[in-house]
Amino acid sequence: MYEYICYCDKVTKGDIISAVFGGAKTLKEVTAVIGAMTHSNCKENNPKGVCCENDIMELIKEYS
Ligand code: FES
Repeated sequence: MYEYICYCDKVTKGDIISAVFGGAKTLKEVTAVIGAMTHSNCKENNPKGVCCENDIMELIKEYS
């Protein structure tokens, strides 16, 4: 089973890291490349019950 970061759009950690390595530098750029945060229904989809925004930001910081 995949470890999703964005459960709403089934985006994995690997997808986000690839986008960062591909040159995406901001939350907006990363989400545009991978399609995260487009079908937001986080309370239902994400086990954390919140949007994935902070998790994506952390990964951008970590891998930039
Ligand atoms: S978990 Fe990413 S938009 Fe809901």
